[in-house]
Amino acid sequence: MRTHLSGQLTPNDIGERVTLAGWVLNRRDHGGVIFIDLRDRSGRVQVVADPDAPEPFAIAEQARNEFVLRVTGTVRRRPEGTVNAELPTGEIEVVAERIELLGRAEPLPFQMDMADDEISETVRLKYRFLDLRRPPMQSALRLRAALISEIRRFLDARDFVDIETPILTRSTPEGARDYLVPSRTHPGEFFALPQSPQLFKQLLMVAGFERYYQIARCFRDEDLRADRQPEFTQLDVEMSFVDEGDVIALMEQLIREVFKRTADADLPDPIPRMPYAEALARYGSDRPDLRIALELTDLTDLMKAVEFKVFAAPANDPAGRVAALKVPGGGQLTRAQIDHYTEFVAQFGARGLAYIKVNETVDADGTATDTTTATIRDGLQSPILKFLPDDALAGILKRTSAVRGDLIFFGADQAAVVNDALGALRLEVARDLGLVEPGWKPVWVVDFPLLAWNEDAARWEAQHHPFTAPRAQDIELLESDPGKVRARAYDLVLNGREAGGGSIRIHDAALQRRVLNALGIDDAQAQTEFGFLLDALQYGAPPHGGIAFGIDRLAAMLAGADSIRDVIAFPKTQRASCLLTEAPGDVDEGQLRELGLAVKKPRTGDSK
Ligand code: AMO
Ligand code: AMP
Repeated sequence: MRTHLSGQLTPNDIGERVTLAGWVLNRRDHGGVIFIDLRDRSGRVQVVADPDAPEPFAIAEQARNEFVLRVTGTVRRRPEGTVNAELPTGEIEVVAERIELLGRAEPLPFQMDMADDEISETVRLKYRFLDLRRPPMQSALRLRAALISEIRRFLDARDFVDIETPILTRSTPEGARDYLVPSRTHPGEFFALPQSPQLFKQLLMVAGFERYYQIARCFRDEDLRADRQPEFTQLDVEMSFVDEGDVIALMEQLIREVFKRTADADLPDPIPRMPYAEALARYGSDRPDLRIALELTDLTDLMKAVEFKVFAAPANDPAGRVAALKVPGGGQLTRAQIDHYTEFVAQFGARGLAYIKVNETVDADGTATDTTTATIRDGLQSPILKFLPDDALAGILKRTSAVRGDLIFFGADQAAVVNDALGALRLEVARDLGLVEPGWKPVWVVDFPLLAWNEDAARWEAQHHPFTAPRAQDIELLESDPGKVRARAYDLVLNGREAGGGSIRIHDAALQRRVLNALGIDDAQAQTEFGFLLDALQYGAPPHGGIAFGIDRLAAMLAGADSIRDVIAFPKTQRASCLLTEAPGDVDEGQLRELGLAVKKPRTGDSK
């Protein structure tokens, strides 16, 4: 149908007769002469239809944006003064000798040269086939494809076997709700869609493959955010006869190589590692964004003896924490901005946001460095100044190294609340004040606790999943002090986002039962839910471990997209529906009958 691609024509083709096919990006009628920018996958070129050639001119007159045309014509140099230096094909144009109309288009809901934020996302998702035609979406999906192909190249060269695992399966616990599929052949019974291929990849290790990978679709019915979709794609990897260091080293090499080849991005070698406890202490988060230099400063011990109950109570509570976030130059924040941040941290459960503005630099011994002020208090401005003694103030200034012009925010509460609130405040303030450095700052977070206490359910839960191995020296604490057991787990955090996570697994059936017991799953229930795994572990299971990376998240980061929706061809909305196909949808009575199901419709007014 064509001899050339529009975007690939160059001045070398001048004089050449070419046939092109593509879409009308736009059409301009310049009183007699019609110009059409013809777009195909390679780019675009200007087509000129002259009234001297009446047949092509007549079709050019009818053409509208996004009509599909086939054009035959001759390439010529654009006349003096009409060269467009911003376009690769800006020096040339194609004079049409023949134009065929291959497809018409209705008036468009948006134009193909509009930017993402000029179009409402609802409209983009409803007309996704048009949205995907826009150049930024074309390049995002091409980048995603390149990422996956580089991953495959790396792993294929290292003896990894790509193996598909079932989509119709049993529940694989990763902490979210399952998507269920009713079985027709077993009325009243359900498949679960996999939250991850976790158990199957472990079985493949028992099966002797030693090195497995899969670009795997996973399904999780959880609250959606910009970086979460109900179905998403993992690079899922598992290896036998490895320890944490082996998995981390190889996967680091993979990520470095793939980033270099797809985005010319340089990641540090080696990628630093940080214990979970340190990440929480310094950044209030187990996925610290290391592009931001701000850190939390712990003040818990300093505040034990003060009379100010807001600080003293959590300081004396074993589960409490008092911490500060120093904002360099934050002294310029207005009352309104501070009030805004106080509301911001309230979302995370903080009951207030005390602060101190440092107007004069003060020495740690309490004497003011500036001659204008006599005592430490004179140089400070804060609603809580009156509640804190001089030595506490001096301690705060010393630990935070605060100087004139800085502002110090405080969090005092249960440690989890302080970490969430100040951790989020750190990101928010850094964004507002332009304190986020450019570039890539990956970190491996290691030494996670194996279990986390779920307050609502009043029981221990797996911090990762129940198949993660505990550190050998901590196993004895499983029953006596479960919260102290550390996991052989690792997460790769990139610019504050969790890009991937994995662990060394339990390969011993008795230990697996013990861990399940610690999670409140007794042997009988363990046999019902995970009997196939426990059985497999009794037939020569090798030591094994692995990891899974979020492909959507990696692609979004490489593409510089805010949301993973921008690197997924047909994503779902925040409410987990597809605006294009209008899924989920009703099914007919006959289908329900076959499945032995009856639907109890929510009353009108109930949320869906
Ligand atoms: P995990 O649950 O940490 O580990 O998932 C691995 C990675 O998948 C990505 N991810 C998501 N991406 C988009 N939308 C979601 N809803 C979503 N949920 C997770 C994240 C995350 O780091 N079986 C284990 C891995 C293992 O132990 O080997 C697992 O699934 O980037
Ligand atoms: P109050 O005595 O409750 O009026 O609090 C005095 C100051 O401490 C105010 O600036 C509050 O915003 C702040 N504050 C109150 N509770 C907390 C808390 N849990 N953490 C940090 N600051 C707090």
